[in-house]
Amino acid sequence: MSIFIVSKRSDSLSGIITVPGDKSISHRALIFGALSSGTTKIHGLLVSQDVTNTANALTSLGVPSEIINNTWHINGVGTGGFIQPTTATLDFGNSGTGVRLMLGALAGHDITVTCVGDKSLSRRPLQRVTAPLKQMGLTVDSSCNTLPVTVTGTTELLPIEYTLPVPSAQVKSAILIAGLQARGTTCVIENEATRDHTERMLRYFGAKIETKCKNGRTSISVDGYTELTGREVWIPGDPSSAAFLIAAATIVPGSDLTLNNILYNPTRTGFYQSLLEMGADITLKNKRELGGEPVVDIRVRSSKLKGIIVPPERAPSMIDEYPILAVTAAFAAGTTVMQGLDELKVKESNRLSATAAGLVANGVDANIYDATLTVIGTQSVLGGGLVTTNLDHRIAMAFSILGLGALNAVTIDDGSVLATSFPDFCSVVRSIGGNIETVWSSS
Ligand code: S3P
Repeated sequence: MSIFIVSKRSDSLSGIITVPGDKSISHRALIFGALSSGTTKIHGLLVSQDVTNTANALTSLGVPSEIINNTWHINGVGTGGFIQPTTATLDFGNSGTGVRLMLGALAGHDITVTCVGDKSLSRRPLQRVTAPLKQMGLTVDSSCNTLPVTVTGTTELLPIEYTLPVPSAQVKSAILIAGLQARGTTCVIENEATRDHTERMLRYFGAKIETKCKNGRTSISVDGYTELTGREVWIPGDPSSAAFLIAAATIVPGSDLTLNNILYNPTRTGFYQSLLEMGADITLKNKRELGGEPVVDIRVRSSKLKGIIVPPERAPSMIDEYPILAVTAAFAAGTTVMQGLDELKVKESNRLSATAAGLVANGVDANIYDATLTVIGTQSVLGGGLVTTNLDHRIAMAFSILGLGALNAVTIDDGSVLATSFPDFCSVVRSIGGNIETVWSSS
């Protein structure tokens, strides 16, 4: 049996909604809670397959947790406190964040663990994380650049200074998490700033962490052997999930939608900046702080859009939003050019080609040249296409949204992928008036 998503042209979308908790912050709250002494209470954790896989891995490593009235209680074991799992492998499913951050955590433990993942995760590059962790002392039993991988950590990790060869918050975070467990100060240098949830949350848990910006470069250093203390964490709504609904309200005429309690971290706001440049009607209200992260309520009304150029330096701040920005651009007057998209090729699918293919399948003129995606907007998007997700949740959601504004229904070949980050996506879209359904098929 397989499950398809079918989305159709919809009348105006409206309502006041929230979206599930931020995926990046959810992973970090579980992992830092586990590495702390004392209890961490997490409110608003994203309960999706990616995050559950990290929680299950921590359980296998001897970290007790329980859910009381929807609040996750993690009874931290402290750095160095993981035990040798009795399960043969730790399965991270579809989650690059889960496996990469956990490799950083495992590096400081004298245990041997085999990490596996699904077909999508097993084709994604791992060497970007294992190379610096090996320099610190992690033993990696694989000559391959991909999962499965068997690693043996050590309580004698060495600090390093490391300049990231690619802009990746996952790599930065893995090194900083290992650095927490190393003798001395570990420093990561970024040429382009990536999401800084690790830095913010580690500071909140008591780590000694310092960030310096000079000549466009950021250096982040963390002192090793500092104990983390369990804290209470409130997780705001995920802006990457919100992006699909914001795009939907922008392109479906007559819409007026409010999304409450959405993370508004400056390292994640490139999508809003791009939409505003396109002419979107977005108002931010009630800016505030929640557990060390900026949060806002967002009101979005439909509007006429125009094509823009999205420069390469904006990529890290909206890396997960390109598929939905490209879909939005299909409804704009004129051409949108998105530059510097190399990293999209190594996401849950090759998102660069998957996005272009999904657009073309729905009658939109789109093309790729090197790492640039160009979309020729049209005010009447044909739709009618069958979109291949290749185990990529964001491709499924982006093209479901395209269907809400297109002339003909759009079919997505695999609805099961929504479980990765936004299990209730279809019911939330329906609750605001979107014409979307899931269809089981025996084929
Ligand atoms: C994430 C970082 C980004 C992003 C991913 C979540 C994180 O990946 O695409 O969805 O939580 O650190 P990269 O670090 O590979 O860019």
